[in-house]
Amino acid sequence: MPTVTRQSEAERFPSWLNQAVFYQIYPQSFCDSSGDGIGDIPGIIQKLDYLQWLGVNALWLNPCFVSPFRDGGYDVADYYRVAPRYGTNQDLYRLCREGHRRGIRLCLDLVAGHTSIDHPWFKSSCQPRRSKYSDRYIWAPSPPSAEAGVPLSFIRGYSEREGSYVANFFYFQPALNYGFAKPDQSWQQPVDAPGPLETRKELVKIMRYWLGHGVAGFRVDMASSLVKMDPDHTETIELWRDIGREVRALYPDMALIAEWGNPGESIAAGFDIDFMFHIGVPGYADLILNEKCFFRRDGGGSIQPFLRGYLEQDARAKGKGLISIPSGNHDIKRLHADGRTLSDLKVIFTFLLTWPGVPFIYYGDEIGMRYLPGLISKEGGYGRTGSRTPMPWDDGPNAGFSTADKDHLYLPLDPHSNCPTVEKQVGDPGSLLNHVRHLIALRKRSSALQAEGTLIPLPVEDNDRHFAYLRQAAGERFLIALNPSSRPSTIRLGAARPAAVSPRICHGAQARVEGEDVRIDLAGGSYGVFSL
Ligand code: GLC
Repeated sequence: MPTVTRQSEAERFPSWLNQAVFYQIYPQSFCDSSGDGIGDIPGIIQKLDYLQWLGVNALWLNPCFVSPFRDGGYDVADYYRVAPRYGTNQDLYRLCREGHRRGIRLCLDLVAGHTSIDHPWFKSSCQPRRSKYSDRYIWAPSPPSAEAGVPLSFIRGYSEREGSYVANFFYFQPALNYGFAKPDQSWQQPVDAPGPLETRKELVKIMRYWLGHGVAGFRVDMASSLVKMDPDHTETIELWRDIGREVRALYPDMALIAEWGNPGESIAAGFDIDFMFHIGVPGYADLILNEKCFFRRDGGGSIQPFLRGYLEQDARAKGKGLISIPSGNHDIKRLHADGRTLSDLKVIFTFLLTWPGVPFIYYGDEIGMRYLPGLISKEGGYGRTGSRTPMPWDDGPNAGFSTADKDHLYLPLDPHSNCPTVEKQVGDPGSLLNHVRHLIALRKRSSALQAEGTLIPLPVEDNDRHFAYLRQAAGERFLIALNPSSRPSTIRLGAARPAAVSPRICHGAQARVEGEDVRIDLAGGSYGVFSL
């Protein structure tokens, strides 16, 4: 198991991440300013005031570069140019500047492991004649059956060049060549061969280009997959440490966020944040996604499987990097699915925004946008398509998302007559949106609730459906109690003996000092954030 080796203060994550609350925007579906039915960057700029009002201070934008969009933009054809459907590079620079004025930083999505088959590098790599790009991708001689036992996907018959190329995810995403951990066949290059070194140089150039235009960092797609046949990721960790060092020499405040799914590893690789756990180490599914996960009103499970995984990863990452538990993302089912109600979502957000690490809110989750089942796949979305639909802003045409004809929208809007909208919820003090906003505000003014505030989980039994924990820092202490199930329950704090317990953000939860102890009564579907 690689150990986390960031040791000096200088190698710690940038301090702005301690207070960060991220908001993920799928640009296709956020706000269409041009009336062509697809969201765009000027549309995001129009909504910055809303995001500032909500309180988020960092954005992660899904890929916005030139692409044939066979996988929603995770198939880049030009890393240096914004896709025309989203606007221009100038629009992106303006988004950085306008965000900055409102205290909102912008992180881009860096698809580091593969390009589109339309990328000029790949087109050149497909030529039988040797060129600068022949080794930019991984090619194996035909027939690929000779490579039996190699755990990679080979695509044959695509090019005039002899042989087959390695694809990472879909067939049209050829893997960039960062080398092999232990090459044992002539077509497998070591990580320090000229081809892999050129690829890594190009990646550093791309990162510096966007950082130079005001971007604050990157969420790195499939970050653990760059070096091939690297089962414990030793070489991939080394690769990222080198890249991070080179880029941070010029941009020390850059945030690097990994789609890795193993914080212990990715933070050793120099990432500042890793997502737990929808890929990689288990836990997230037991918390939010599974049929028997903790956050289910009826028939839910215990917090234990999540907590065990979290505490183990946290012990490995502590002080060096941060773990994120996102509200969702473009690859998984939205929170609002499978019979959950907006009240259930309030309990979940109370957890997400009082938990250590860095919260990530997927666009629309703050109003409880629904997962739309049964949609025809769009741009390689398949089952993920239902989590990528347009943001409903108001009760106007196309819910204020676009002025295009309804049939020309990127994806259909939620057709339910009671579809949540921003406008309906802004003015309703009891709405999910205002709940999320109050939680963000409390988090931003309380260091105990921020990324590095201490977490002390209270003991739970396997059959408990509630969960409570303390967060503390610099003389400040909070108690958070959650009961996502429909069964009422009672929790006792034990030996903490606070002088007083004051409710801060509560629903159905009551706490009172009883002698030496504190007793918290939780109705079904309740939450309480108390200061002690
Ligand atoms: C990541 C992205 C996903 C994409 C895949 C291939 O997992 O989040 O949307 O399809 O990588 O790039």
